[in-house]
Amino acid sequence: MNVIFLGPPGAGKGTQAQKICAKLNIPQISTGDILRRAIKDGTETGLKAKSYIDAGKLVPDEVIIDIVKERLAMEDCAGGYILDGFPRTVPQAEALSTFADIDSVIELAVEDQVLVNRLSGRRVCLNCGATYHISMLNGREECSVCGEKLVQRADDKAETVLNRLTVYHDQTAPLIGFYEARGLLKKIDGDQGMDNTFAAILKALGAEA
Ligand code: AP5
Repeated sequence: MNVIFLGPPGAGKGTQAQKICAKLNIPQISTGDILRRAIKDGTETGLKAKSYIDAGKLVPDEVIIDIVKERLAMEDCAGGYILDGFPRTVPQAEALSTFADIDSVIELAVEDQVLVNRLSGRRVCLNCGATYHISMLNGREECSVCGEKLVQRADDKAETVLNRLTVYHDQTAPLIGFYEARGLLKKIDGDQGMDNTFAAILKALGAEA
């Protein structure tokens, strides 16, 4: 099953993709995680991407399309995958259609005001990728999975979050119509609690809970 998770920053794409991938035993392909890893490793791609990410802008299509094409050609994607954060522009979606057959697009819908609260309170583990909200942490500052110190993502600062939401509405939201026209879109309320959202996605994918 080849699936796209579409939705604004903070909608819960990463959180839900991780859970659904574990359930279906398929890989989660997060372009945000790939780019952050490249920045951490100081690669050429990372150097190109950093200024865009820090400003809340999208990295250029030509940078990201080749990365995804290479990743989907790897053996572990043969049995299906979830694309988390790609495509994000119509040219990316058009390019994807030349090298992948997508079965479903899950749109996670959440109001902007809720997103701002989620992102400004998000803390992440740069070691294992686990994500938390400060309201769940009770003052704890370490990852409960691996013990690493939790940090706030540079692009979760208030002013950058607003830029990311504007970029989403201008450049990514048109993909909702793009995939609706192809009969692939399934809209899920992403503001109904994590467990209910998880169950709704599984149902939309025709998978058993
Ligand atoms: P990326 O890492 O993809 O960021 P994003 O799309 O902005 O998404 P987020 O990771 O911020 O949010 P999410 O929807 O995964 O939410 P999460 O599950 O963490 O991209 C970062 C940057 O990389 C981009 O800005 C761009 O520059 C670049 N980039 C990446 N892909 C690109 C592409 N294809 N083209 C060009 N540039 C690209 O949840 C958020 C918070 O909410 C967490 O604290 C979580 O605990 C909480 N939460 C989640 N679900 C719920 C719930 N149901 N109820 C309550 N709280 C919840």
